Amino acid sequence: MSADYTQLLKEIDSFIVSGESRTDILFNTCKLLRNNVYHYDWVGFYLLDENQSKLILGPFTGKPTEHTEIPVGKGVCGQVAESKKLKIVQDVSQEGNYIACSLDVQSEIVVPVLKYDKFVAEIDIDSHSPSPFTINDENFLTSVCQKLSIIF
Ligand code: SME
Repeated sequence: MSADYTQLLKEIDSFIVSGESRTDILFNTCKLLRNNVYHYDWVGFYLLDENQSKLILGPFTGKPTEHTEIPVGKGVCGQVAESKKLKIVQDVSQEGNYIACSLDVQSEIVVPVLKYDKFVAEIDIDSHSPSPFTINDENFLTSVCQKLSIIF
């Protein structure tokens, strides 16, 4: 059964108004998404560092990754930091500019968090399923990132 995205968005609204720290809000969002969407196996946030040259791993759920810093432009995450545009890779073996975290990962979606049109962070989701992402994921995760931009 597919997830109730409307309900998940309401829960994210409640995290945002909770008064908790940004780290806690992002971590709660990671847990919510990973626990409720079957094809989301690793969910994490990368935040743009102060000098804007690299991404720093923030809250995440799933297997620990050694990629705690990613230069802007490198990998799928770095490409999105540069383009400020959502990117879907339905088959990571076909992506030339890709940083592998785990051999289990087959596909990935990365969605930017924009604050007044400036890139500040992104949500990165890895899936163990082949070609799982649809327009529903695009619309849902774009809404998630729009909502979260208020805490940056
Ligand atoms: N695959 C990403 C690296 C981050 S891990 O998926 C957690 C990339 O190509 O940028």
